[in-house]
Amino acid sequence: MTKTEESTTTVTTAGRWALGGDLSVSRTGFGAMRLPMRDFGIPGVDPRQAVAVLRRAVELGVDHIDTAAFYFHQDVTANALIREALHPYRDDLVIATKVGPGRRRPDGEWLSPAGPEELKAAVHDNLRELGLDRLDLVYLRLQPPNDGALAERFGALAELQQEGLIRHLGISNATVEQLAEAQRIAPVASVQNRFSVGSRTDSAVLDACTEQSIAFVPYYPLVGKGGDQAVSDTAQLEAIAARYGASTAQVKLAWLLALSPSVLIIPGTSSPAHLEENMAAGALTLAPADLAALTAPHTV
Ligand SMILES: NC(=O)c1ccc[n+]([C@@H]2O[C@H](COP(=O)([O-])OP(=O)(O)OC[C@H]3O[C@@H](n4cnc5c(N)ncnc54)[C@H](OP(=O)(O)O)[C@@H]3O)[C@@H](O)[C@H]2O)c1
Repeated sequence: MTKTEESTTTVTTAGRWALGGDLSVSRTGFGAMRLPMRDFGIPGVDPRQAVAVLRRAVELGVDHIDTAAFYFHQDVTANALIREALHPYRDDLVIATKVGPGRRRPDGEWLSPAGPEELKAAVHDNLRELGLDRLDLVYLRLQPPNDGALAERFGALAELQQEGLIRHLGISNATVEQLAEAQRIAPVASVQNRFSVGSRTDSAVLDACTEQSIAFVPYYPLVGKGGDQAVSDTAQLEAIAARYGASTAQVKLAWLLALSPSVLIIPGTSSPAHLEENMAAGALTLAPADLAALTAPHTV
């Protein structure tokens, strides 16, 4: 077996999920935020490396890539990198994007929460930048903790869905109540909220997704913003990883995948070595005692 075949098997090992009931994706996907930037305001790697990482991710079996038009540093954007690396896209590649508060180009300053017309314009920006006629999955990204009523904003996206520009809708940074509010307007295929071994305040949202067969896509699964301490490696995490001969990143991702069949991971990296590591996490099966130990309150 070649290295590629071996790795493809490991991505597949995590199993698959049907987004919105009809869009099949591997439960191991890829988040593109870290390609054009290391973090907001901090430049990313050389675009040639970013393109190589995207191509390798797809080669490894990734068919779900998460992006947004507001992932950019100066003139390097995630959407343009994805297009350069992967267009014309494979039929089975699902590109998910998010609209919400935008960022001004090129300086990156965050703009105030977008209204319905700005959200519609942002959908068109994503279509143009990615070179697509229809977006597979568009999240309304709410600004935590609460940036107001969502009915008009989600309704605007539902109108674009009716027009055929969006296949499925999602919601990001949502509470259980906001999920229910969105569902009164249109079906929700996926929820994307912050969640990791070290950050589990949204477990009620995860439970709601599991009960209703909605995908739950945890963001910041590994490190978080600026090396956030809340998800830093604990001695316990390191000990568990050492016993499996795995990295702590792989343990964090395997823990997420074990939480619920609804969980789809999208770890982001600009490092070829980290990519290989992350994509293999689905092959790691943690024993129930280790899953429980990582889930216990004292590990946070
Ligand atoms: N909806 C939202 O509000 C929201 C917010 C943030 C992110 N997101 C989405 O969620 C995706 C995932 O979040 P994220 O990319 O920010 O995840 P993350 O958990 O913060 O991990 C990314 C960071 O971890 C490092 N890393 C990756 N793999 C590693 C490994 N195996 N070992 C050690 N370090 C590793 C990366 O650096 P290297 O490049 O050096 O590997 C990067 O700094 C994003 O790409 C984006 O698509 C959504």
